[in-house]
Amino acid sequence: QLADESVGLDQLLESPLHLAPEPSLPLPPDLYGPRRRNSHGLDLAVPAVRAQLEQAFAAASVPAIPGSAPEDVVPAVDRAVAAWPAWERRSAEDRALILRHAADAMEGELPRLCALLVKEGFKCWGDAVAEVREAVDFLRFYANEAERILQPATLPGPTGESNVLRLTGRGTWACISPWNFPLAIFTGQVAAALVTGNCVIAKPAEQTPGIAAEAVRLLHAAGVPHPVLQLLHGAGETVGAALVAEPRIAGVVFTGSTQVAKIIQRTLAAKDGPIVPLIAETGGINAMLVDSTALPEQVVDAVVQSAFRSAGQRCSALRLLVVHEAIADGVIRMLQGAAGELVAGDPSQWRTDVGPVIDGEAFANLQRHVRRLQAEAKPLLPESEPDEATRLLPPQAFEVAAVEQVRHEIFGPVLHVARWSGDPQAVIHAINRIGYGLTLGIQTRIDSRAEALAREARIGNVYVNRNMIGAVVGVQPFGGEGMSGTGPKAGGPNYLARFCAEQTVTINT
Ligand code: SER
Repeated sequence: QLADESVGLDQLLESPLHLAPEPSLPLPPDLYGPRRRNSHGLDLAVPAVRAQLEQAFAAASVPAIPGSAPEDVVPAVDRAVAAWPAWERRSAEDRALILRHAADAMEGELPRLCALLVKEGFKCWGDAVAEVREAVDFLRFYANEAERILQPATLPGPTGESNVLRLTGRGTWACISPWNFPLAIFTGQVAAALVTGNCVIAKPAEQTPGIAAEAVRLLHAAGVPHPVLQLLHGAGETVGAALVAEPRIAGVVFTGSTQVAKIIQRTLAAKDGPIVPLIAETGGINAMLVDSTALPEQVVDAVVQSAFRSAGQRCSALRLLVVHEAIADGVIRMLQGAAGELVAGDPSQWRTDVGPVIDGEAFANLQRHVRRLQAEAKPLLPESEPDEATRLLPPQAFEVAAVEQVRHEIFGPVLHVARWSGDPQAVIHAINRIGYGLTLGIQTRIDSRAEALAREARIGNVYVNRNMIGAVVGVQPFGGEGMSGTGPKAGGPNYLARFCAEQTVTINT
């Protein structure tokens, strides 16, 4: 069917992703694996699909959205506080249904949303489609999860007593989201807070306000009352800071840098009144350990995807490849060949693999880091002229002397390569000592070693013999520990409970 050029997007979307395997699949469900549930229902090689996306791209314009002022925070919280009791009293099923309506609407508007992700967020098409799918996954997954966890639980107790545990909303949450997944992370945070009976004031990254406004439009149209979900735009330092400091904010969910997460934590701690929970998902210096038994082709494929896809602008992206001395030369040679095939360019072009970085500031930071590496490390890929006008940075790789040399998260297509020999556990300990704990890749053909190394790693998402990006909602709950975040993991079974207050009612009957 996918090879048939007359097949359009609507037909391809007719089998929307389902988080549980359906009995009607033509092949046994486990043959599809997680891929069926992510972006891969849509084949971007089909001309009819490309045509629809191109048409949406031609029609899309990035809206000019004025920033909010810090003074807008208090009236927004006033409205949310007034709307909260009625929203909290609605049933979990009722709120879940609204999320499902929003998921259907988002899926229906996939071409337009993808076009905006390319235009405003500089995503390549494959990443844009995957991101819409992920946002839809979040809506459906949290709808299901809310119905599961918000049922009051009757607990055992002595005769003559009844005990019930129930979860409720906490009040108004601030949802602060990044530009690198301006639809998926935004939607995930907001959906989780709403479906658990909270009001939301969302403050998306200032680089990508248009896509956030689209998500809010769809959620409002699906039935979320306007005062229950409000949007503020602008800089984190001004609008975000005022929002977090507002005394009535009952919780904060934040995805961004470790440094800003700590500023938020300090702000919350300094406020009078309640102790306010923070859910933070931050950065990582993510490593991949490759032992001498690993398959070089598989390693290089995983490295290219993990380090350079999305121009390395994923918190899960590979930053540090630690490869065994015995196969290092071969892997590096193969990596040079594979990276040389990648096309850096305009993200709206189908042949582009690596698009621009998000803005001039990000580009300048990356340039500074690359210049430092040029002085201190061995370049493995051809040097290229930095182009400030396009903000294109072709993939870069540098050999460093040791794992310890990589200390700061670099958010772009820059890979550090170190060699190791001896005890692989010692390498994992060195990676643990960096202090981040988001993603780890392990490449080995010794199963018991993979298991032992994963257990030793203080890292939230471990991927063995594959790439280490693109966590699928409900399949690879995502989030780290240490400097990488507080947990719980987004898209996992423990996420929603953190948005709730818990109440136990004991009645002497
Ligand atoms: N969740 C994304 C991934 O797994 C990273 O932000 O790639």
